[in-house]
Amino acid sequence: MSRVQTPEQQPPASGGRKSLIGRLADWIFNSALWKSMYMNPYPRDRRTRGLAVLNSLFLHLHPGRISRQALTFRYTFGLGGTSFFMFIILTVTGIFLMFYYVPAVPQAYFSIEELETTVAFGQFFRNIHRWAAHAMVLLVFLHMLRVFYTGAYKPPRQFNWVIGVVLLVLTFLMSFTGYLLPWDQLAYWAVTVGTNMAGATPFVGDKLKFLLIGGYDINQNTLIRWYTLHVFALPLVAAVFMGMHFWRVRKDGFSR
Ligand code: HEM
Repeated sequence: MSRVQTPEQQPPASGGRKSLIGRLADWIFNSALWKSMYMNPYPRDRRTRGLAVLNSLFLHLHPGRISRQALTFRYTFGLGGTSFFMFIILTVTGIFLMFYYVPAVPQAYFSIEELETTVAFGQFFRNIHRWAAHAMVLLVFLHMLRVFYTGAYKPPRQFNWVIGVVLLVLTFLMSFTGYLLPWDQLAYWAVTVGTNMAGATPFVGDKLKFLLIGGYDINQNTLIRWYTLHVFALPLVAAVFMGMHFWRVRKDGFSR
């Protein structure tokens, strides 16, 4: 396939020598490194634009063909995308926090206190993590409302709605398991109330509560269980479901 030239690559209308920027662009766009990363010709007509969308990891979230209206900001308010952005922020700041947090009953509270008072930018990253968690819960919920009010859950998108419900539950669980980790009074009693609610589930309540707190009382067993769920198991499962969710957005085609 012949490469279509970028505007910088085209010979100047005057027919004279190319500018320095033009020659630099030529050098970059024709280098083996550039071609190995970006295999499309320069997008300038319907076909080459379509190719650019199909072959880009980030652009291919959208179906190959999409109505102009579906791209208007007021249709989605970017709520799904910003929910995902919060997940990325939470992952990055969460990794920073993991360098200092100790998931053991005698140290958990003090490691957070140290993070707040002595670690450089510790309080900043903790607050970003906390605010992003609140924001993600809110945004995912608003995204669900948007999908409902625009009727985007109807066939053929009903399976993606179900994946979305799983993502909603996972978002709540990620938020709730993080709540215990500071091991302060607020965390302890919130988890006591939450697991007592789980204990009221008909038939399996006792077993569920036992499973959640790792025994009969909230102690080290509970902390290590919730820590593992919070930093590893739940985000991993959520990331897999998000991958499926995005894939289906693309395959089902945008509503509207
Ligand atoms: C972690 C949570 C979630 C993330 C990151 C996410 C992300 C996305 C993104 C990026 C889109 C593309 C359009 C847009 O931005 O609105 C989308 C579409 C969609 N989402 Fe979600 N979503 C999440 C949760 C949910 C929930 C809770 C539901 C419903 C229960 C849901 C149902 C759908 C459906 C049906 C579509 C297709 C909408 C259309 O074609 O107009 N999602 N999601």
